[in-house]
Amino acid sequence: AWPALILGIESSCDDTGVAVVSASGRVLGESLASQADIHAAWGGVVPKLAQEAHEAAIDGCVEAALAAAGVRPEQLDAVAVTIGPGLSLCLRVGVLKARQLAAAHRLPLIPVHHMEAHALVARLGATRFAAEAAAAEQQQQQGVQQQQQQQGVQAQQQPAASTAALGAASDAVQAAAEAAADAAVEFPFLCLLISGGHNLLLLVEGIGQYTQLGTTLDDALGEAYDKVARLLGLELKPSGGAALEAFAREGDPRALPFSVPMQRRPTCDFSYAGLKTAVRLAIEEQAPEATDANRQLRADIAASFQRVAVAHLEERCRRAVGWVQESHPQVRHLVVAGGVASNQYIRGRLTAIADAAGLRLVCPPPRLCTDNGVMVAWAGMERYQLGLVEPPPASAQVADGE
Ligand code: KG4
Ligand code: ZN
Repeated sequence: AWPALILGIESSCDDTGVAVVSASGRVLGESLASQADIHAAWGGVVPKLAQEAHEAAIDGCVEAALAAAGVRPEQLDAVAVTIGPGLSLCLRVGVLKARQLAAAHRLPLIPVHHMEAHALVARLGATRFAAEAAAAEQQQQQGVQQQQQQQGVQAQQQPAASTAALGAASDAVQAAAEAAADAAVEFPFLCLLISGGHNLLLLVEGIGQYTQLGTTLDDALGEAYDKVARLLGLELKPSGGAALEAFAREGDPRALPFSVPMQRRPTCDFSYAGLKTAVRLAIEEQAPEATDANRQLRADIAASFQRVAVAHLEERCRRAVGWVQESHPQVRHLVVAGGVASNQYIRGRLTAIADAAGLRLVCPPPRLCTDNGVMVAWAGMERYQLGLVEPPPASAQVADGE
């Protein structure tokens, strides 16, 4: 059916996310169950506990997202689900649920790569097909309203008047569609993905067409934030990274002279292990126990870590922008996504880089940067528009060799 409706399921790590999105990029219903409380107590994600929490949450999340959307499963056009990368025990829970839904309602299945979902959510509602779908959805809506009016007791309007109103409205819809197409985040774009498991600089030329410009040689930035937050004795809620960002606001970012990683290597690769070790040594020497008395010192360490970690990110991004502008001068956007992209300090620093290069920085709102169902549903929608779907499975179980 056009415009399409897709339900997306995310369960790769410690969030159970489900959402229903329309082709225009409207989020019709959404549900997110976070496991932050469970894992904060253990100082990190415990796969077995995460799996159990996903199993406990998944049915309720699907029901809640469908109910919020006012959509019955048979009205969907496809089910999208994260198939990796992630914790296999956790991924399995989402995949099983997606297959159950798809088999029961004869819906196509769309396997989604977790990092592709992070990258593509920057295009939520900002594509040409989304602009067209917005017009179609609005017309459907008007059709429904008109029908209701005609059937209603107060249907005394002149047919001519309501037709004229409809005409004016569709002009507005058309204008909105054109504006949306103008704001589209078109391919190719430069993309920085920063999450708990990945640190990637990519040239994105289309769905499934990614050229890797750089990756991490050891830790991802989110992992480094998480480890430093733990060493500083912070409460890891809503995540280590978010806790560290908040704590760093109390500190002096120039207090400790950590050095920026890999300055003599003119690549777009990242390394955070050395910085992490330097920070660990500083904490062990100067603030081995978290106390009220050393709170300022710990905040200084947090702020200094963040400044240097992000300086590394900036330096790599500046280089990638330079490369890409030479090889692909049509690039207009720098997209920054993944959980760490919800960090306001990082957004500010990268805005300056994009501005200096004449690029538009596109950073999804924080709730779409951390893991969620919307990004999976939207990546599914992008694939659906290209016909990249699998036929409805005969059963929920994964057959041998599949
Ligand atoms: O994308 P995501 O939700 O899950 C993965 O795919 O890994 O990213 C989670 C990561 C965690 O390491 C978390 O600490 C980090 O994103 N993060 C942040 C912030 N919010 C989440 N890091 C720095 N600053 C933040 N505000
Ligand atoms: Zn993620």
